[in-house]
Amino acid sequence: MSSNFEIIEKDGAGRIGRLKTPHGVVETPTVMPVINPNLRIIDPSEMRNFGAEILITNSYIIYNKPELREKAIADGLHALLGFDGPIMTDSGSFQLSVYGEINVENAEIISFEQQIGTDIGVPLDIPTGPDVSYEKALAEMTTTHERLKEAREIVEQTRIGAQSGEKKRGDDMMLAGPIQGSTHIDLREKSAAYLSDLDFDVYPIGAVVPLMEAYRYRELVDIIVAAKKNLNPVAPVHLFGAGHPMMFALAVALGCDLFDSAAYALYAKGGRYITVNGTYQVDRLKYLPCSCPVCVAHTADSLRKAPNLEELLARHNLYVTFEEIRQIKQAIADGKLMELVELRCHSHPQMLGALDAVFSHSDWLEQHDPAAKSTFFECSAVSANRPEVLRYEMRLDRFNLFGTALIRSYPSQKDKEYDNILTFKPPFGAYPVELDENYPFNAEVRDVAGPESLKKAIENTIKLIRQNPNAQFTFVKGRRLNQFDDSYFEELKTVCAVLEKFED
Ligand code: GUN
Ligand code: ZN
Repeated sequence: MSSNFEIIEKDGAGRIGRLKTPHGVVETPTVMPVINPNLRIIDPSEMRNFGAEILITNSYIIYNKPELREKAIADGLHALLGFDGPIMTDSGSFQLSVYGEINVENAEIISFEQQIGTDIGVPLDIPTGPDVSYEKALAEMTTTHERLKEAREIVEQTRIGAQSGEKKRGDDMMLAGPIQGSTHIDLREKSAAYLSDLDFDVYPIGAVVPLMEAYRYRELVDIIVAAKKNLNPVAPVHLFGAGHPMMFALAVALGCDLFDSAAYALYAKGGRYITVNGTYQVDRLKYLPCSCPVCVAHTADSLRKAPNLEELLARHNLYVTFEEIRQIKQAIADGKLMELVELRCHSHPQMLGALDAVFSHSDWLEQHDPAAKSTFFECSAVSANRPEVLRYEMRLDRFNLFGTALIRSYPSQKDKEYDNILTFKPPFGAYPVELDENYPFNAEVRDVAGPESLKKAIENTIKLIRQNPNAQFTFVKGRRLNQFDDSYFEELKTVCAVLEKFED
């Protein structure tokens, strides 16, 4: 296992990590701005000012253009771009997927990436798009695996060679192993498991751009989880082609560490202004809802009229991209990543679908989520599906109650008449009152539960009651629950006494 990646803090399956590269350490999660070697809308030397720690460019474009190629071979990639931090290079696979063929072979592009001093090289994988037949996806994945294995061997040979001879550029190049398999989940699982055994330094999840362009975030979630489940948890994962900050929190919570953004430049070219809640056409903006240096220096009108509009939009787009990364890292440090994910997922209906998909994997998330962290905030209708709630449900069988038991929402004079007192708190359900101040039961939840939350809580309560046949339960609804109609409580009434309120 590569020891280039170290995890510092965790939340959900998300983490803050440190990735060691030949040109320095990168703190993750982070975004790699895509540099087009032919067209620099923002100079690479400026990228650090936005928060960039690592860049990504395309070795195939450099290889194909004699003046770029000669300079890269003579002076190295870092001199070519004018950036002395880590640089990853993609291989031309994307061009392959768009144009059908390219004039370079896998071994050749790997050697070239080494020769120019790339920090993280990508072999010539085949990005198999969504919805292709199983046979085609399997065949292309198999070819990808062969090429990745070949790349692994080339890099290993170089490493061994370097131990005896003198050091040269590219000796220590790290290698990315893109996971493919199209929308076939079992192929994604197999791909991740196979590549995991080959021990790559970074695992990109490939060919998801068409899914993101079509807002198919739900499927994206399933693909990320399929890959993650089959990788070593301490392996950095790159979501290839993901550059819109709206979905960073979601992807980070599932364990993605690296993103790459061509979006900042592509969107700017199309006159589009990125925000974490979605994208605006600059012509439609009456106000600039952002405080980056571009937006404080302009009004919507003056921005539109600026002769360098495209560059200004690219700058704004980069600022908001890195702002979101910092927001996410702070959320991880605070144990509040899930809350941020819920907020972000409410900005688009298909993101809401993705949130449902995330919670359909709560059993997996639960295994990664630190068992105790800061206060659980209920911040959407679907908070009831969070891993913490599932975890409580799985632990219900740990209680062993005897005698009389009162389940109520808040303390009352009657508490002292019962052997056991349980607090009823949606979405968790009923738990011994002694746990009131403990995580996650100290949660901040709505005064009046939402229907989903109440349903979940009643389900868990029924489970708890059924598992404790030696206790006699009384459930008191009280004022906060009285407004819900009887249908919520029908099943509960079959397992215990349900009182509207205490008789005073
Ligand atoms: N860029 C976006 N997706 C991909 C992918 O699947 N493979 C490579 N090499 N580059 C990409
Ligand atoms: Zn701005």
